[in-house]
Amino acid sequence: MVIRNFIVFEGGDGSGTSTQLKLLERKLAETPHAPPYSIGFEPTDGPIGLLIRSALCGKTKLRPETVARLFAADRGEHLYAADGVVERAGRGELVVSDRYVPSSLVYQGLSCGSDLPGKLNEDYPRPELILYFDVDPREAIRRIGGRETKDEFETLDFQLRVRECYAQVLADYAASGTRIAKIDASRSVEEVSRDIWREVSELPIFGG
Ligand code: TYD
Repeated sequence: MVIRNFIVFEGGDGSGTSTQLKLLERKLAETPHAPPYSIGFEPTDGPIGLLIRSALCGKTKLRPETVARLFAADRGEHLYAADGVVERAGRGELVVSDRYVPSSLVYQGLSCGSDLPGKLNEDYPRPELILYFDVDPREAIRRIGGRETKDEFETLDFQLRVRECYAQVLADYAASGTRIAKIDASRSVEEVSRDIWREVSELPIFGG
């Protein structure tokens, strides 16, 4: 099943999704006749998301399989809680999420094998559009270098495998009919943001 009006940003760490999400939010706020919208992210800032963040920075020790289950549980709340993604998109809001199922298939696929994340996420609906931020992991790691807190996934070796794995996971999505927009995220913030707006403003919810 596809959730119409639900779009997702995906990419390796340091690919700039969070920065671009803020810019998209600003653009939506400034645009007359833009649809109502809401912006979210995974891991969420709910109780399960907070536990996940604590595990990713090594503060809480959990097995990778447990982390995979937590991501899926956090996602279930994000989707189906009152005022969650499904409800909002269903009433005609444009709902944007920084990361979704593909992140679990890639990251947890690498940390605990593809079977478990595949099973845990198989019943979750697909978004209408995935914007994939593609950038050379060397450049991404250089960008992350300036950040204070790094999580367990933010090493060059892991990010090289993340990029390869995204190529596979997104090819599978494309084959099953989900639209994938690959964004060259190595360019300037302005250029990337222009591309994203072009993709988003062509969605049917804009009346095009
Ligand atoms: P994110 O908040 O996007 O990272 P940051 O704010 O540091 O850019 O995501 C945190 C990490 O969680 C990121 O390394 C990707 C990882 N992640 C998974 O491993 N599986 C998932 O299902 C999701 C949604 C994220």
